[in-house]
Amino acid sequence: MSGNERPTGQQQTSTAAAESAFLKACRGEPVPHTPVWFMRQAGRSLPEYLKVREGIPMLESCMRPELVTEITLQPVRRHKVDAAIYFSDIVVPLKAIGLDLDIKPGVGPVVAEPIRTRADLQRLRALEPDDVAYVTEAIGMLTGELGSTPLIGFAGAPFTLASYLVEGGPSRNHEHTKAMMYGDPELWADLLDRLADITSAFLTVQIEAGASAVQLFDSWVGALAPAEYRRSVMPASSKVFDAVAGYGVPRIHFGVGTGELLGLMGEAGADVVGVDWRVPLDEAARRVGAGRTLQGNLDPAVLFAPRSAVESAAREVLASARDLPGHIFNLGHGVLPATDPDALTRLVDFVHSQTQA
Ligand code: CP3
Repeated sequence: MSGNERPTGQQQTSTAAAESAFLKACRGEPVPHTPVWFMRQAGRSLPEYLKVREGIPMLESCMRPELVTEITLQPVRRHKVDAAIYFSDIVVPLKAIGLDLDIKPGVGPVVAEPIRTRADLQRLRALEPDDVAYVTEAIGMLTGELGSTPLIGFAGAPFTLASYLVEGGPSRNHEHTKAMMYGDPELWADLLDRLADITSAFLTVQIEAGASAVQLFDSWVGALAPAEYRRSVMPASSKVFDAVAGYGVPRIHFGVGTGELLGLMGEAGADVVGVDWRVPLDEAARRVGAGRTLQGNLDPAVLFAPRSAVESAAREVLASARDLPGHIFNLGHGVLPATDPDALTRLVDFVHSQTQA
């Protein structure tokens, strides 16, 4: 795909969604209020989520379009957030190409046989749309239900996916991952390139089905120094952003602990950069470069403090975003499972009331 042609077959974002505060903010246009959504808004903080998930393993629930639709809609109904995020997980496309992996409650993704050698790469075949037909089906159902609320599609970025695949599960120090990155740069580059293609294909399926923005989660990339990020990760992440550029849907790039990487993450090609709570948004804007919409960045743990403390922390986030061309209010990382859902609902309302044009 070259230039800005819109590929045929795409379910265009509905006019109502295109005029939503969320998509306006992504494009840096004036907004009626600062849009709000929360990473991990669909999930264990909601009793209605726990109820519908009862007895159904995480990965299986991602493959049931009706359940996915219900779970994706739950936080929209309850909190009145300005965007829905598609209920799935970053390892779903890897499962879909046949890797033996599972999501263990309280642990995260676990891979039966880690990817460590060139021979192991053969197990990473290309992702075809038919491998994830349930995603196309669920997004079709969702866009019908959502009306003017935009749907965000997402995928894991090559580095974060590689970390799970090479370590075999969640890791604090990413030692096997870094051993490959430093020790066999050619194998590493080939691994990331394959993951970039899988991720691009997965995002393309979501956009074609009707997602009106996409977020690339590079959750663990903050483990890298800038020079290493530029050399070993940025080419693969940029490949993903380039692959979906022709659709014209906003591309959001997010990671945790990325204060020193914000400039490079902006350079990688996203339209919107997500910021964790460690860097104030005005400083983040200086690092990312002018003219970019930022997303963030309330510390998710603040929601365990009394209401007045949450409000003053939210006010600080809004103040630091005052001079940005666009701001999407979010947490600096995902909603913590024990969060009181009412605190989230109040926060959405508070941000809206503080920023009403
Ligand atoms: O944001 C949303 O509401 C959409 C759903 C979503 C999930 N995972 C559902 C989920 C999204 C966007 C993700 C992305 C994801 N998955 C990331 C990137 C975002 C981030 O948090 O940094 C990562 C690193 C993963 C891998 C993963 N999957 C982890 C670390 C866990 C938590 C393990 C645990 O139980 O503590 C999961 C499981 C998972 N993904 C759950 C949900 C709702 C919990 C599983 C359950 O409810 O049984």
